[in-house]
Amino acid sequence: MTYDTIIQGGTIHAASHSYVGDIAISGEKIAAVSGPGTLKPTGGTKTINAKGKEVIPGCIDVHVHLELPFMGSVSCDDFDSGSKAAASGCITTVIDFAAPGKGESLKQAHETWMAKAEGKSLVDYSWHMCIVDDQHLKEIPQLIKMGLPTFKEFMIYASMGWQSDDARLFESLELMHKHDGMLLVHAESSRVLDLLIERNHTQSKMRKYGARLHTMTRPNYVEAEAIERAIRWCEVTGGTLYIVHMSTGEGADLVKTAQARGVNVWSETCTHYLVLDDSVFAEKDGHLYACQPQVKKDADIRRLWRALDEGDEISVVSTDTCSFTRKQKAMWKGDWTKIPMGLPGLDTMVPIMYTHGVRAGRISMNRLVELCSTNPAKIMGMGGRKGQIAPGYDADIAIIDPHRTVKIDHRKLQSRCDWSPYQGQQLGGFAHTTLVRGTVIVENHKVIGANGHGKFIKRQAPGSL
Ligand code: URP
Ligand code: ZN
Ligand code: ZN
Repeated sequence: MTYDTIIQGGTIHAASHSYVGDIAISGEKIAAVSGPGTLKPTGGTKTINAKGKEVIPGCIDVHVHLELPFMGSVSCDDFDSGSKAAASGCITTVIDFAAPGKGESLKQAHETWMAKAEGKSLVDYSWHMCIVDDQHLKEIPQLIKMGLPTFKEFMIYASMGWQSDDARLFESLELMHKHDGMLLVHAESSRVLDLLIERNHTQSKMRKYGARLHTMTRPNYVEAEAIERAIRWCEVTGGTLYIVHMSTGEGADLVKTAQARGVNVWSETCTHYLVLDDSVFAEKDGHLYACQPQVKKDADIRRLWRALDEGDEISVVSTDTCSFTRKQKAMWKGDWTKIPMGLPGLDTMVPIMYTHGVRAGRISMNRLVELCSTNPAKIMGMGGRKGQIAPGYDADIAIIDPHRTVKIDHRKLQSRCDWSPYQGQQLGGFAHTTLVRGTVIVENHKVIGANGHGKFIKRQAPGSL
């Protein structure tokens, strides 16, 4: 057997166990995995020495917003800078959210997103389809056939025309049940949230509290009540539900209880909810950290890590990357409701999980692989193709040098964002080498891949774990 590439002697981490071994690649696929020194290179074989390094299946960020028109601006990372950030941080596939413009169909939104990604992305990609109009419901079966089995609805964002009411959530979940799709939900309780915002939206309060009003008007029950309601509609319809960017301990409790009674509900949390708390809003540039939902309290951080370590209530870690520069964030002019909401994160997702998770003794390396690669692949309908290092799988692989730590400086990251929520932190876990379908796109910590290497991935029905 001749191989194109052999990765030799690394410590290979799967979701279930770790071992030292070799990985052989033929074309875009993993051809063999075996003990160290057992796979023999022939004349044309490229060898990559991974001795003393950690080798993981390429990670999958299932929640990104690249070049998204949002809150009067457009997120500054696109499929060029976003996919480079991904690659440098061990991520080999991203899933964006295709949001139809006013009056547009889901199919048109799919075409718009294809035009944004094709020829530009370095890593593989797909998107969830955002249902923002009742007309979109009838397109669900067709989109699933096109390899897009996951849909997104928002319980807030009425002013942008994106909000779903209970009836639409209910009907969508019925359709997910019927057609084997999955509904992703941004769960925040809009009526109460709007009331709290209205009560505090005065010049004197804005002068007094500034960006702190963002967290003061979003108590934990705003997220918890919405999750509770979405779970109820999921339970009675028999649909499959996935709570995106879950930020509260209450949310984790609700998902756990629902799963125990057999409801098909999954959830993700994002890296910023695991390492930042709402004291950031009191900082000089606190408004930069505004995202929806906002980062919460220390008790939430502890509950979310506990779920990641011990439970099934959170199955995936993502970034919700939606980067805005300092200039874009400055649109707020003292009014927190006008801050373009969102944070950069693609470069740093795996480094945060590696440093604050594995290195800090909170989770194992196997759990990192499960949360950032194997589970996202299975839940998002890419099981059998991505998320594992095994024969027949795409050769999406990241290699980490465990001895290398980087002091975060936004100027050295691939993101176009001119600030980082993690500026100055010492993080390990960046990619020494990244391969996407057998092609090396990061070598010796440098992004070398060509734009357009990434491919649109047709996904199957969301799978179980
Ligand atoms: O603040 C955020 N999360 N911006 C992106 C849009 C969303 O709601 O995920
Ligand atoms: Zn959201
Ligand atoms: Zn998002």
